[in-house]
Amino acid sequence: MASSFQFLLLGSSFMYLTFVSLAQTFHSPNALVFPITKDVKTLQYVTTILHGTPLVPIKLVVDLGGPFLWTDCASRYASSSSRPVPNRSIKCLTAKAHVVGSKNCLSGAQKCEIFPENSITRLGARGELVEDTIAIQSGDDSKAAGLTATVVQQFLFSCAPPFLLNGIASGAKGMLGLGRTRISLPSQISSALGTHRKFTICLSSSEGIMVSDQGPDHGSFFGPEISRSLTYTPLVTNQGDNLLPEYFVGIKSISIEGKRLSLNASLLSLDGEGVGGTKLSTIVPYTMMESTIYATFIEAYIKAASSMNMTMVASVAPFSLCFSSKGIESGKSGQKVPVIDLMLQSEMVKWRILGGNSMVRVNNEVMCLGFLDGGLNPRTSIALGGYQLEDTLLQFDLGSSMLGFSQSLSMMQCSCNSVFKFDSWPVEPL
Ligand SMILES: *[C@@H]1O[C@H](CO)[C@@H](O)[C@H](O)[C@H]1NC(C)=O
Ligand SMILES: *[C@@H]1O[C@H](CO)[C@@H](O)[C@H](O)[C@H]1NC(C)=O
Ligand SMILES: *[C@@H]1O[C@H](CO)[C@@H](O)[C@H](O)[C@H]1NC(C)=O
Repeated sequence: MASSFQFLLLGSSFMYLTFVSLAQTFHSPNALVFPITKDVKTLQYVTTILHGTPLVPIKLVVDLGGPFLWTDCASRYASSSSRPVPNRSIKCLTAKAHVVGSKNCLSGAQKCEIFPENSITRLGARGELVEDTIAIQSGDDSKAAGLTATVVQQFLFSCAPPFLLNGIASGAKGMLGLGRTRISLPSQISSALGTHRKFTICLSSSEGIMVSDQGPDHGSFFGPEISRSLTYTPLVTNQGDNLLPEYFVGIKSISIEGKRLSLNASLLSLDGEGVGGTKLSTIVPYTMMESTIYATFIEAYIKAASSMNMTMVASVAPFSLCFSSKGIESGKSGQKVPVIDLMLQSEMVKWRILGGNSMVRVNNEVMCLGFLDGGLNPRTSIALGGYQLEDTLLQFDLGSSMLGFSQSLSMMQCSCNSVFKFDSWPVEPL
């Protein structure tokens, strides 16, 4: 169920919401818009939604591969529209059927219990499935008339004990899962509004955006130029009973400055149990690679860097490979450093990572390669992290199981931050 209504901008209201867009292309009334800011301390991406009755803003950490929304219900005021979901209900079964780990271990309660997990600390707990109202900013710049919000009623989420908040950005009250489940935010929004299961995310080192795309002209939200430039690759799934909620792409190989690395192919592919493969993550701040892949990658990178006369310097944690920034030219997409290509379904389809997404400026003299050793035997061989995803338009189409990705927006003199400008949103309750 969904409805649209207008918030009036009353000065006395405890919520003061204004929304200003500087982009001329911003006329897509059916697009739901989530501003995403990067928390400088934790490097997590945080958004705000309105929740409950009355609607209050809650800050949530964005978890691209997370199965559903969970929040610490105890610390919140009582919402009059909050309802527990009964154990014997279709909703409970739906939630459990599509959420790994919630199947057998949780029974014996009248409430519908699922298993929220803090994907940063990897701690999990029992949580009750609850439904309540949420409201999301709709894409409309009719600032004078007030803010248009789309309300989704009976939105399913999980309560979680307060300790699950440990390790997440200050002020955040839970995590917002965007993953491939029936009860993730994109799925619930599309079933409430009867729209495609599709969303676009554009992360930024400051203020980015997530848009739940509606209808065929969704592309216009970011402007036709950017939308037309997207390259598509299939989202890969494991074949087992428990489909993973995370988004995987099929990297066949990696090359540095055009030189193809020789990598273990079985590590690069996602097997039936969901082991191996390459996923996209907003939780991992820098790309993590399985140790043997990482070693090959670093060796090739050092070779390419030295042929470009880059000077290695002592490494700065958490990075293992750092260079002097002296004499390194800076182009529009960051420092002129070796180009990294992730080869996808064919040699023609590659995801190019330039300096702006590979080199992390540590200080004025030192820059480090923003890729980390993920250890031996990690569940996922490569997790493409937030730093590598920033200023790249990523369009997830769950219906056709495709990912559309742009080249670095900096190549188009653009960034996720400059695409839109938000003013006074999100806001905290006074
Ligand atoms: C909850 O539902 C599950 C699955 O239908 C069932 O196995 C369990 O016994 C139920 N628990 C209660 C207390 O009804
Ligand atoms: C490739 O990875 C698989 C899975 O970890 C491992 O069993 C195999 O020994 C590796 N092959 C090589 C040549 O390293
Ligand atoms: C690297 O340095 C050498 C020796 O100074 C020079 O001949 C070469 O042109 C330089 N290469 C690049 C890519 O700058």
